[in-house]
Amino acid sequence: MVRYEIEGGRPLNGELTVQGSKNAVLPMMAAALLCRGSVVLHNCPRIDDVFCMIRILEHLGCTVNWEGHTVIIDAYEVRSETVPAKEAKRMRSSVILLGALLGRRKKAVLSRPGGCVIGERPIDLHLSSLQKMGADIRQEEEYMYVKAPVLTGARIELAKSSVGATENILLAAVLAKGVTEIVNAAREPEIPELCRLLRAMGADIENRGNGYIRVRGVKELHDAELTVMSDRIVTGTYLLAAAAAGGEVTVLNPPWGQVQALLTVLSGMGLTVRETEEYIYVKRMDEYLGVDFLETRPYPGFPTDLQSPLLAVLLRAKGKSRIRETIFESRFRAAEEFPKLGARVSIDGPVCTVEGVPKLHGARLISHELRGGAALILAGLAADGRTMVEDKGFIRRGYERMEADLRKLGAGISVTDSTDDR
Ligand code: EPZ
Repeated sequence: MVRYEIEGGRPLNGELTVQGSKNAVLPMMAAALLCRGSVVLHNCPRIDDVFCMIRILEHLGCTVNWEGHTVIIDAYEVRSETVPAKEAKRMRSSVILLGALLGRRKKAVLSRPGGCVIGERPIDLHLSSLQKMGADIRQEEEYMYVKAPVLTGARIELAKSSVGATENILLAAVLAKGVTEIVNAAREPEIPELCRLLRAMGADIENRGNGYIRVRGVKELHDAELTVMSDRIVTGTYLLAAAAAGGEVTVLNPPWGQVQALLTVLSGMGLTVRETEEYIYVKRMDEYLGVDFLETRPYPGFPTDLQSPLLAVLLRAKGKSRIRETIFESRFRAAEEFPKLGARVSIDGPVCTVEGVPKLHGARLISHELRGGAALILAGLAADGRTMVEDKGFIRRGYERMEADLRKLGAGISVTDSTDDR
């Protein structure tokens, strides 16, 4: 158990540099399997999901080394196509290894990634797309056995613009025979970032950015090296921490232009916001407004991953705010904890309503998932007195050094970790 102890009620001041993007680097690490060579990724965050992906790559036969925040993946020897069940259960985004293993090994064995606390997390679009490209999929109780002696390009119209399904199709298409077209592909910035690496490896990809992507399969891919973009969700989390606690915070090296929806919301709440290519500055000195009604949407709409951290800020906003979660079925677990702080929150299906209150008091909170856990810490910053957040390692899956970063900004936060397997 990791326990975060927060002494709230203090404004934050200062600047910090944001980590590399978790949701960009995970598919890029899977892409490394596609070449008998090495892929070097700079600005790679040292987070548990990356450590988990490294364990999987090593199990498959890769050699992986760290040099600071650079990870070097040598995929000369890939002698297995079975993703270890323990790791696949720990990290459901390991499903994107399917496309890469089909591209490299023409087969893959993966334990069926179940749902998680935020939703059922189906992978039907991943599987139907790979089947269109020639994959044969046998689903048994525990495992999926996927075979594709020949991967062939296809035209795939996604019923939902799924990030993971788009990534799996790209990873399978770059070495497939012929042309693959993706219609209604995800537009999240992590997609062009994956295309950037694949092109650097020699792939032939045209991403029009409007949801249409065209891939012409090539015979083989080669070594590549690049610097991973900054994490837009961690950037947004820290801007929202400043909104929750008050004060002035500058985030250095943000992913340019990727948090516009959040900046618009913060400005509408009455905060001072300034964005340049080098930094994003946010200031909140006194009372601020809530948001009348907001829906989470696929990019470039307001991101579902910042929904809980925004709710933490709305707890002390003036007036009533309502947020509708449209991407995942049950992403209000943090909201269920907020009333312990004296917050006035009600949940009705996909809509969470918050009546702002002038003060919050410390409490003992339970974290159930990554972004919800971060939201509980933000709520602790906004509450007077001591708040404890009990977390089973969720926060460290995506935030490399949240407590150290917040302490740098003047937050009263300390961590004790009684997890035995760290
Ligand atoms: C990615 O998850 C991110 N994870 C999530 O971030 C993020 O919340 C999500 O995209 C949406 O932006 C990573 O990139 C590792 P989806 P993913 O497939 O790919 C439905 C975080 O906190 N769907 O775009 O799993 C699905 O149920 C994580 O960093 C199907 O119906 O998301 C959901 O309602 C949490 N069938 C919607 O699409 C499918 O086959 C969007 O899911 C696939 C998805």
